[in-house]
Amino acid sequence: MNYEKKILITGGAGFIGSHVVRRFLRHYPSYLIVNLDKLTYAGNLKNLEDVDQLPNYRFEKVDICQKESLQHVFEKYEITDVIHLAAESHVDRSIEGPMEFAQTNVIGTLNLLECARKSWKDANHVFHHVSTDEVYGSLGSEGLFKETTAYDPRSPYSASKAASDHFVNAYFHTYGLPIKMSNCSNNYGSHHFPEKLIPLMIHNIQTLKPLPVYGKGENIRDWLWVEDHASAIDTIFHKGTVGESYNVGGLNEWKNIDLVKYLCRLMDQKLNRESGTSEKLITFVKDRAGHDARYAIDASKLAAELGWKPSITFEEGLSKTVDWYLANENWLKDVTSGAYQSYYQKMYHH
Ligand code: NAD
Ligand code: DAU
Repeated sequence: MNYEKKILITGGAGFIGSHVVRRFLRHYPSYLIVNLDKLTYAGNLKNLEDVDQLPNYRFEKVDICQKESLQHVFEKYEITDVIHLAAESHVDRSIEGPMEFAQTNVIGTLNLLECARKSWKDANHVFHHVSTDEVYGSLGSEGLFKETTAYDPRSPYSASKAASDHFVNAYFHTYGLPIKMSNCSNNYGSHHFPEKLIPLMIHNIQTLKPLPVYGKGENIRDWLWVEDHASAIDTIFHKGTVGESYNVGGLNEWKNIDLVKYLCRLMDQKLNRESGTSEKLITFVKDRAGHDARYAIDASKLAAELGWKPSITFEEGLSKTVDWYLANENWLKDVTSGAYQSYYQKMYHH
């Protein structure tokens, strides 16, 4: 079959990547979708078992740090476009071990940029780099991150993402590589690995384990439903201007402690537990080193120029998310067996 585009999606077995792969497979049967993923602890092919039989889907188990293997995939499929999500993504892990973050997030991104630069002879392509609002640093009680906000990364994770963003922009300015970039706030939704706040709390509420809130729980995050992030990536990939970056967010700020309490009430209702049962599990623990106080995104450029907006409210999205975890206990059992146990022990039982 002659495909209209042959898109390489990196990190497609991860949380956000699997939603992007699913969306593109379903919406664009005329595109070939090649999911390239190393399958680290965060990558799980079960995240895609509802779509992996579709005729326009391919999977390649490749590490983006292996440049020759990457080049081979580019040539094998004559890749026309890239949506780059593969990364080490967890801030706490970056504090424990920054080297892996530099390798995958910086060198891995450079390898991909090099493959695209060598393979693409005209401007009729897109290299969409998926990044984070954490590159902008930390806000006080006022203000929002705009695309023009100066970069000020403060964790090894955000430093590695900022470095990768700079390389992506450098390839546009220096070599004319047709790049697009998006910087998104905190995602939540199905298939989210339970090292991150929301799925970790859902898992612990379900199993009646302590709910570890860092510091006083006063840090603020802006939460966006993962399928709305996937729709934003779709919009920017197709309609965004080459060389530009777009902030993506939900205008939905929550203090961690308020969010955890809301989740406790929601799950008490869904699990038919006596009201107040889950809140009793809240435990304040040692703060994260260098913990950023507040993230909040101004997504007005994306709304005004490309017409994107979130499709559902946080309350709807969180309810759907909890329902998914309650209906997919086996998924949680699978990903929390093995290495997860030693990670959890190290992080939360000093
Ligand atoms: P994730 O950790 O759930 O998934 C990452 C995926 O990348 C996994 O499938 C993993 O196997 C793969 N991967 C890791 N190292 C690799 C390597 N060397 N080679 C090939 N594949 C490799 O991450 P996520 O939360 O889905 O985030 C995806 C992207 O979106 C990341 O670039 C992240 O920085 C960005 N982002 C995440 C959020 C969020 O809230 N989770 C928000 C904004 C931006
Ligand atoms: O803003 C986008 C970023 O959001 C992404 O780039 C990252 O990949 C993603 O992991 C996320 O980073 P955060 O550090 O904000 O997410 P996390 O879920 O780890 O933590 C959210 C907040 O909850 C943060 O203030 C720390 C706090 N927290 C987290 C955990 C895991 C707790 O209080 N207890 C916990 O056990």
